[in-house]
Amino acid sequence: MLIVRKIQEMQSLANDFRKEKKIGFVPTMGFLHEGHLSLVRRSKEMADLTVVSIFVNPIQFGPNEDFERYPRDFERDRTLLEKENVDVLFYPQIEEMYPEGYRTYVKVTEIEDYLCGRTRKGHFQGVATVVAKLFNIVKPHFAFFGEKDYQQLKIIERMVKDLNMDVTIVACPTVREEDGLAMSSRNSYLSPDERRKALNIYGALKRVQSLFMEGEKNVAKLVEEARRFLASVEGLEIEYISIVDCETLKDLEFVEESGLLAIACWIGKTRLIDNIVLRRDKR
Ligand code: PAF
Repeated sequence: MLIVRKIQEMQSLANDFRKEKKIGFVPTMGFLHEGHLSLVRRSKEMADLTVVSIFVNPIQFGPNEDFERYPRDFERDRTLLEKENVDVLFYPQIEEMYPEGYRTYVKVTEIEDYLCGRTRKGHFQGVATVVAKLFNIVKPHFAFFGEKDYQQLKIIERMVKDLNMDVTIVACPTVREEDGLAMSSRNSYLSPDERRKALNIYGALKRVQSLFMEGEKNVAKLVEEARRFLASVEGLEIEYISIVDCETLKDLEFVEESGLLAIACWIGKTRLIDNIVLRRDKR
């Protein structure tokens, strides 16, 4: 596996690759888990060559967020990626990505204001900006994103469409631990007791899903059920429980065919998100 740290080197490699090969790209912030590796495996299936980036992007963290303590373990990540036969690891430093005088940002309006955007001001602008830069550096034909970060996925899809970027976005399903907890690098912050409490997020999603499958369409009632479910978990603080349109992310009043049920909550000092698409079986 080639490790590339400089933008120019990555760009000239990408130019050479593109002459004959389809490039698949998995952008990450490192501290890899099975969720990331599932994106890598999808890329290996679809593309001739897979590039993974590891970059903890400072501009997508707010001033009081966890940029400093975000988990990092380069050697472990490198070993995992080598085992997956990744071709190139792009691993730039902050000064390489945002040199002195950096001034340009990408903002996808409206979609970024809902769900996590209500509390994480500037987060999605930071994400869209770094992903746009990475696309210009890695020049992929395909880029892989997990549905766990559903709003991020929709923002990237919108950006690619609006800015006519020549890349296909491939959405990949959320990978869960055996007991249902969605995989996240931030799970490493949880104590065993917090980990146990975190499992209730998936419990609430499943509870609402079965109520929906029984015929309940009213969003207020569905959300109330999730609130009731989570209220009994000591030390769990709900940030939001929303049911929104799967494309626009606007709040729904009733779920007819489909809707995205999304939850964000705090367990101690850890913020966790998860979601599930509620879809009526058309059979
Ligand atoms: O999902 C992530 O890990 C990050 O938001 C991403 C897409 C790598 C951009 O920094």
